Formats: sequence, structure tokens, C-alpha cells
Amino acid sequence: MVLAIANHKGGSGKTTTCINLGVALAILEKKVLLIDLDPQGNLSYSLGIDGSLHTIFDVFTGEKEIKDVIINCEGVDVIPANMDLADIELSIKGVENRLFVLKEMIDPVKHLYDYILIDCSPSKSLLTINALVLADKVLTTILLDVLSIQGLNQLNKTISDVKQGYNKSISFLGILPVNVDMRNNISKEIINFIKDNFEIPLLKSYIRSNVKIIEAPSHGESVFKYAPSSNGAKDYTSLVKEILNLNEK
Ligand SMILES: Nc1ncnc2c1ncn2[C@@H]1O[C@H](COP(=O)(O)OP(=O)(O)OP(=O)(O)O)[C@@H](O)[C@H]1O
Ligand SMILES: [Mg+2]
Repeated sequence: MVLAIANHKGGSGKTTTCINLGVALAILEKKVLLIDLDPQGNLSYSLGIDGSLHTIFDVFTGEKEIKDVIINCEGVDVIPANMDLADIELSIKGVENRLFVLKEMIDPVKHLYDYILIDCSPSKSLLTINALVLADKVLTTILLDVLSIQGLNQLNKTISDVKQGYNKSISFLGILPVNVDMRNNISKEIINFIKDNFEIPLLKSYIRSNVKIIEAPSHGESVFKYAPSSNGAKDYTSLVKEILNLNEK
């Protein structure tokens, strides 16, 4: 299954979730590929991948094959990215099949993995649309604040456009609240608002606010390696179980 982790709202836990959900799946012996599709390269950096190595940029330009850029970290395969990826955005603009470039690139290796997770950038860029054209499902991570509701509306619109135009079978896996402090009244209010106003399913799992999650990237590690008994590791373990259950249904 190809899962795009997307939200047009920046800083909403996409990269953190891509890494930790990916490693959680690998711990349960799933074969996982993570694609860093954000020119910020946060996913690659957070896993301690050297930014000067070959990246997805070299696959886009045809200079390297996918197998030559993949790096294995903590049991997951990673296609890294860096700032060069921003140039790809510009250069594929004029190409006829510009929305299908990523799909054509990944289709040949798809059968090697149980889960391919794509870390999208917050912008509604050509790269993000490429991810949604390839994806079977979308997981959207949100902070429980009012601006996230706006991001959710924007993403909903993008997904319906993609569904109508280029990928009829795409659907939402669900909304995952992250960095949650349930002691705040606003958290409960936003949760109720989402339940009442959106058709997108709200996952039962949520990720509590946890300092180990903030610290882990500076060690180039997932929260499972950095702090295996932390609440962060526990919450991502609950999430992976819920996702596997949903997929088996
Ligand atoms: N559960 C959590 N507890 C505490 N901090 C968190 C949690 N989840 C994410 N964060 C922090 O929130 C910040 C934003 O997270 P992250 O980089 O994953 O968001 P993003 O959606 O990928 O951002 P961007 O849109 O820039 O790509 C990071 O500093 C991260 O460490
Ligand atoms: Mg990110």
C-alpha cells in the first residue's frame, strides 16, 4: 500500500509520523520504503542520512536508478532528498506527463514493499500532486488547533481534485492528531468539530505531546531507537496496530 502523509498546514507532524510509523511497521516485520518528497529534506536529516549522498533528485534526472540511492536505516529503506528537489519541481513543470513522473518511477519497485510511505511537503506543489497520484491512501496529521481545520479543508479540496482527475481510487485512511495534550479544552473541542463536520475518519489513535519525539531527530534516530519506552514510541505502536487492523478489514 502506498500511503501519502499530507497536510497543507506546515509543521503538523507529517515527517515525524512518516519516520515513526515506518519504523513501527518494520518492527512488525513489514517491508517498508520511505520516500522523502520534501525539498526541506527533514525526513532524511532526521534519520541521520548524509545530505551529500545521492538522492531522489538523481533518480528524477535519470542519473541514478532507485536501487542506487536507497539507504537502509533502522530496518526501513529510504529514498532521501535535499534542496535539489526544488529544482525538479521547476523542471518537470513543462513535461507532458508531469503529474505521473513519481508513479512511473516507483511502480517498478512497488511489489518489493508492503508499505510505501511518502513524506509530502506542506505546499500544494507538483511533487505533492505526484505523491497523491501514486498513493492508495492519505494519512493526514493535524495539531488540535483551529488553523489545522483550515489545512484540512484545503487538503480535502486537493484530494477531490486528484480523485476526479488523475487517481480515482485514492481515499483517506484517516486523520491523526499529533502533539496532543488532552488536558486542553480546545483539543476536545477540535476533535468534536472534526467528528461533526468532516467525512474523513478520525483515527482512534493519537500521538501525545512528547519531548522524546522532539529530541530523536537531533540524534538521527526514530523515537523507537532513541527512547523505546517513551510515550512517543507507545503511541506510534498503537497507531501501527490500528492501521494494520484497518487494512486487514
Ligand atoms: N507528538 C509530538 N510531541 C512533541 N513534538 C512533536 C510531536 N510531533 C511532532 N512534533 C514536533 O513538531 C514539529 C513539526 O513536526 P514535523 O516536522 O513532523 O511536521 P511537518 O508537518 O513534517 O512539517 P513541514 O510541513 O515543515 O514538513 C517538529 O519540531 C516535531 O519535533
Ligand atoms: Mg515535514
